[in-house]
Order: sequence, then C-alpha cells, then structure tokens
Amino acid sequence: MNATIPAHIAIMMDGNGRWGKQRGLTRSQGHYAGSQTMETIIKDSMKMGVKVLTLYAFSTENWKRPIDEVQYLMDLPGLFLTAKLPEFMANDIKVCISGDIEGLPPHTKEAVKTAIHTTKDNRKFIVNFALNYGGRNELLTAIKKIAQDLNDSNIVLEEVTEELIETYLFTSGLPDPDLIIRTGGEKRISNFLLWQSSKSQLWFTDTYFPDFNKDLLLQAIHEVNNRKSSEAAT
Ligand code: FPP
Repeated sequence: MNATIPAHIAIMMDGNGRWGKQRGLTRSQGHYAGSQTMETIIKDSMKMGVKVLTLYAFSTENWKRPIDEVQYLMDLPGLFLTAKLPEFMANDIKVCISGDIEGLPPHTKEAVKTAIHTTKDNRKFIVNFALNYGGRNELLTAIKKIAQDLNDSNIVLEEVTEELIETYLFTSGLPDPDLIIRTGGEKRISNFLLWQSSKSQLWFTDTYFPDFNKDLLLQAIHEVNNRKSSEAAT
C-alpha cells in the first residue's frame, strides 16, 4: 500500500453506549471498551506515521448525561493517563488537551495537568484529547480573550488575522486536521473543531467505536486519498 498518511487525524468516538447496550452491558462499560480501542488506535496511528491524533473524549454537551455516566467519563482520563504515562514517556508521546480544563472536576484536572506537564518535551507523536470541548465554547472563549487584549492594548485591530485567532484556540500550536472520522453511524459535526475543520476531509462509518480498528482507519485514509486524487484530476 502506498498511502499518503494524514499528519493530523481527529476521531469522534461515537457509539460506545449502543455497543454496551447491544451486549447487555452498561453505557459506562461501553466507554471502557472505547478507551481500550483508543489505546490500540493511538499505537496504530503512530506506527503508520500520523503525527497528531485528536480524540473527542467529552463534549460540553455531555454534562447533560446521567450523573453516573458523567462521573465515569470523568474518572476515565485519570485511570487511562496514570496507567499509560510510562508508555507515553518511553515512546516519546506528548499529551495535549483541547477544552476547558478548569471546568473539569479536581481529580480529572489534576490527572490531565500531570500528563501535560510530564510529556511536554516529547516530540514523536501528539495525542490530543478533546475534553470538555465544544467548538462554539472555544470560539467564544477566543473572542472574549481577543476583545480583552484589544481593550488592554496588548494587540491592535490590524493584528487580528486568521493566524492570530488560531493562537487563541484550544488547539493552538496544532495543525488543522486533514481527516475527521466519526464512528457510530451519525453524520453530524456535533460542535467538533468548527474552526479547524474548514478544509478537512470527513469520513463516516456505522461501526461503533469499540469495534473500530486499524483496517477501518486504513480504509478511511485510502478513501480520502482517492477522493483527493479524483478532485485533482478534474
Ligand atoms: C460517544 O459515544 C463517546 C463519548 C461521549 C465518550 C468517548 C470516550 C472514550 C472512548 C474514552 C475516553 C477516555 C479517555 C482516557 C479520555 P456515545 O456515548 O454517545 O455512544 P452512543 O451514541 O451509542 O450513545
């Protein structure tokens, strides 16, 4: 296979709850299965040569879910990151978080801050968790900070460019995603990377996230590469 590997892939990991229900399990057990798939996909994408993998782990809308599910989704980052930190260090993997970190419960906040700090000098691969993330919230936060900086004369109006706006986003410093994948059958953007997705290829699969795998990842990459070559030929 001679595929062009996207530098940045973002995944909307949808379908965990339905995967659990289908097996007579709880939604949280579905999320646990999703976190195991996530672990495999991080390794697979790094081996393929992907540089940045963004994973939509918790949206600003997800707070409306039942309390026990929210609690479990807030426990998962700590459980996952604490277990994986030695491996991330050994493999030169940097952890980033895109989202409102201050709005997380204290134990989740502490776990993600520790992971960010510990891995900050790693260079080979970035795993970026979109956590307490919402595209509109990101834009609103950026607009308020820019307004404040204009008001404080830290910047002048002429300096407000697309490049400057990007430095105010939660994803500051990361390239835009080349490919956005959504599992679980729905074909919506769901408040994900609204600014950053302006040129991204979108790819959807009915497969629930816990069943997502390397073959589907390669299929997505192939299909978008084919799309791009037929676009270039016309
Ligand atoms: C959407 O599926 C998925 C989520 C809201 C959570 C995804 C989180 C993980 C896979 C693990 C995160 C782990 C870490 C360490 C950050 P859904 O619940 O909406 O599924 P449904 O569409 O079947 O209801």
